[in-house]
Amino acid sequence: MMCSTSKTPLVLDKRTFGEADDMMKMFVKEGWKDQSRDILQATFRLAGKGQLVAKYDGVVVGFVTLYDFSETNSFLNYLIVKPEHRHKGFGSAMLRKAHQLAEARTISFIATLPAVPLYERHGYVKGKFCFASYSMIMKHIPVSPGAGSKYEIKASRDVDWNQLVNYDTSYHVLSREHVLKTFCSIKGSTTKVILERGKIVGYGTIRPVLAGYLIAPLYADNTEACMVLLRSLVGVAPSNSPVVLVIPNVSQAGKILLDANKNDVRVLWEGVNMSSKDTPDIPKMNNVLAILSPAICFL
Ligand SMILES: CC(C)(COP(=O)(O)OP(=O)(O)OC[C@H]1O[C@@H](n2cnc3c(N)ncnc32)[C@H](O)[C@@H]1OP(=O)(O)O)[C@@H](O)C(=O)NCCC(=O)NCCS
Repeated sequence: MMCSTSKTPLVLDKRTFGEADDMMKMFVKEGWKDQSRDILQATFRLAGKGQLVAKYDGVVVGFVTLYDFSETNSFLNYLIVKPEHRHKGFGSAMLRKAHQLAEARTISFIATLPAVPLYERHGYVKGKFCFASYSMIMKHIPVSPGAGSKYEIKASRDVDWNQLVNYDTSYHVLSREHVLKTFCSIKGSTTKVILERGKIVGYGTIRPVLAGYLIAPLYADNTEACMVLLRSLVGVAPSNSPVVLVIPNVSQAGKILLDANKNDVRVLWEGVNMSSKDTPDIPKMNNVLAILSPAICFL
């Protein structure tokens, strides 16, 4: 696809695998340390044909991915332009192309705060949730005495897969089975499930990323179960390793956790959910301590 800019045409092409290295370098520069090459590859697998690399004069200047999740919804991810090529319309050209690829589907994502005006110019509207990606050395996980013994924690392989998918779906409008399969099988991932009297009351995954370890997602029925599961997941990381979580501002457990570790928390980025049309709210966002990804979250 050719888009005319001042002199030389911008070409929006299908990404080739070698360009993943370019993307990782841009993520590091941007401070997106809650990423890894393995997460990127999983996103590429999901996006299929919806991966665009922008080249100007044959040089890579930016990327975006679009994942057609269902007949009605697509997720935009990783819109990024190299700093030296910004403000020349490349980001807008990629957004227009993604919009064409999505056809009539609603496009959703979490926008980093500085990018919100750009998306608004392209007709996207803000949703009601704010998020931030926090990196912390987790010194304090507030768990009340006796809470641990109320619950059982199992490896995901020891739990009925359909029950786990149904649990995830109770937070969303549609089943995300394909997404969960892809994300849970990312190299180095450990997924644990928390049960109370044999019933699933939460689950979460931890995996290595640039900044240390990423917990994504962590859903549980109440703050206590969130903390018990968090403690178990953090135990997978080497001690004193930074742990990253993308926490919704309405998360009850998130508020308590951030307060307990306030001297050891660093904000990597802040954002808000946006979409091209109204999307239904996630019914139990208060119980979400960490989302799965900044893209694959809404519906
Ligand atoms: C957002 C981004 C892709 C825009 O690319 P671009 O090629 O500069 O986009 P355009 O030239 O079409 O539009 C520029 C607009 O982007 C927005 N923008 C500018 N700097 C930005 C920044 N550091 N971060 C985010 N958005 C920015 C502004 O609204 C800007 O408008 P202006 O030129 O009138 O000031 C680019 O700034 C970027 O890579 N930012 C860092 C990564 C990021 O935040 N991506 C969005 C994730 S949701």
